Amino acid sequence: MHAFSQAQFLRAVGRPADLPPPGPPEIAFAGRSNVGKSSAINALAGRRGLARTSKTPGRTQTINFYELGDKARLADLPGYGYARVSQALRAHWAQLVGVYLKDRPSLAAVVVVMDARHPLTPLDRQLLAWLENFRILVLLSKADKLTRAEQAATARKVGSAVKAEVRLFSSITRQGVDECRELLGQWLTAAET
Ligand code: GTP
Ligand code: MG
Repeated sequence: MHAFSQAQFLRAVGRPADLPPPGPPEIAFAGRSNVGKSSAINALAGRRGLARTSKTPGRTQTINFYELGDKARLADLPGYGYARVSQALRAHWAQLVGVYLKDRPSLAAVVVVMDARHPLTPLDRQLLAWLENFRILVLLSKADKLTRAEQAATARKVGSAVKAEVRLFSSITRQGVDECRELLGQWLTAAET
């Protein structure tokens, strides 16, 4: 059994004041709207309906926390970069996510999810630059939409451009799921000690 199979919803947080006190090591899932952050959490947990997913970008508007027993937590962050949201909502998100990422002693690693067809947008690069002191896993999601050759080319391109672990991922074919469980599990273990 892997730790992710124990995932249980803990809390949805809409403002910094409501963040749960830092507890066990946490892994945050960040990335553009609609790239598949919530789907990646479900794939890692092996539970389809755990995190809410949607065809409509901007579905996740709160930081949604999941507990892996009492050993670790996952945080599903609201996505960025969706053009059709109001300036006010964008500012609210930036504030919530900014406070969380900047001031979270229990944050052990950040999974930055990117659509394998459109990786490394300017906002993705900004986030990576900003997170440079964290362990980072870049997930190239929706890899099922690419041919094997395109997957290899994208992984190579992104791998040479960023200082992070990079993995191809698909929550549909489950490509990359076991590998990511293993890597994140190692990072959580390292963070516990
Ligand atoms: P926000 O919460 O809006 O930021 O989106 P998100 O990043 O959480 O994306 P979500 O997991 O809700 O998925 C968005 C859409 O992409 C849904 O229609 C999913 O079914 C689809 N999707 C997610 N992962 C994959 C994947 O690996 N392959 C394919 N083909 N579609 C996927
Ligand atoms: Mg989501």
